[in-house]
Amino acid sequence: MEKSVYLDNNATTKVDKEVVESMMKYLKDDYGNPSSLYTLGQNARSAVEDSRKRVASILNCEPRDVFFTGSGTESDNIAVKGVARRYKNKGNHIITSAIEHHAVLKSVEHLAKEGFTYDIAKVGEDGIVDVDHLKSLIKPETILISVMYANNETGAIQPIEEIGKIAKEREIYFHTDAVQGAGKLTLDVKKLNVDMLSLSGHKFHAPKGIGILYKRTGINPIPLFHGGHHELSVRPSTENVPYIVAVAKALEIAYRDIDEHRAKQTMLKERLKAGITKNIGNILLNTPDNSVFNTLNISFVGIEGESILFSLDEFGIAVSTGSACTSGSLEASHVIMAMGRDHTTSHGSVRFSLSKYTTEEEIDYTIDKVKSVVEKIRKISPYK
Ligand SMILES: Cc1ncc(COP(=O)(O)O)c(C=O)c1O
Repeated sequence: MEKSVYLDNNATTKVDKEVVESMMKYLKDDYGNPSSLYTLGQNARSAVEDSRKRVASILNCEPRDVFFTGSGTESDNIAVKGVARRYKNKGNHIITSAIEHHAVLKSVEHLAKEGFTYDIAKVGEDGIVDVDHLKSLIKPETILISVMYANNETGAIQPIEEIGKIAKEREIYFHTDAVQGAGKLTLDVKKLNVDMLSLSGHKFHAPKGIGILYKRTGINPIPLFHGGHHELSVRPSTENVPYIVAVAKALEIAYRDIDEHRAKQTMLKERLKAGITKNIGNILLNTPDNSVFNTLNISFVGIEGESILFSLDEFGIAVSTGSACTSGSLEASHVIMAMGRDHTTSHGSVRFSLSKYTTEEEIDYTIDKVKSVVEKIRKISPYK
């Protein structure tokens, strides 16, 4: 079999076998509609409510505050647009950060067309939001702050607890896109001081197309869709029972085994970092020390990240440049640019993102191939 080393787990992850097993019953046997009153339907309802409880116990919230959605993007859109629209009589100003995922940034830009105004908090060279700057942007009419938990490109962990405290003191709603924090950082919403939090199943070994939104009781976002009473009308549509079971199972596994995952991936990430730093000159680390344990982002000066990506692909190694959604366009990453890197350095950034399935042998193979690929490209490029 050809070699396959998957180091793009911030884009998506392999579905865990245990997760697949947990959902099969609801595809094959208990396929009823959870809104139906007969036994087949009620079996499905029990599975949905049981999953909600399991998620709530990890989020340290009430089950009624957990909503199942179609994706991380959808959770972000409900939180940002739904809350802004609902509370626009209180104020029309929103604050977000320069390194958000497009699911948040584009939602905020869209709201600007509806008469909202917004400001963008800057980040330091380390890719971490400048809290003093964010604070200075707050106005009496600010109703919502949305800052992500961990950045998808650099892995930088954001000061969510601190921003949450600032928002709470000023009675501003606070949302965090925690999509890249799941399975890596605590999701205790009380500890984090968040009013709303978004998750996406496919980033932690559940299938694609299932998201979670936590929202504190009392916050009532205007839904994006109108329909039935499913998910208290926050997200109407017949519940995706197998995927709901799967996402709850995947989250449970992620936190059941988190110590083991942290220890192994921290060791592998350090090995990768040391291997690259020792063997390759003129690189720039885009991942700060305070980062999630699976992510390492490096700029190889003088080379486009895409050339490295395609060359590594020939050796069966999957990595990415920028986020998955922006790859395909040759725009420099807005995240790396926001950190003050120039255009060329931003273009040369490569993201390695590990998972619980990554092995030491795969990391050593990757170090070896990155070294030869970078040397080869630098030889034939104008790089000096
Ligand atoms: C930080 C972040 N937010 C949101 C999303 C969107 O999630 P989904 O693919 O489930 O829509 C992603 C996916 O790349 C992400 O990394």
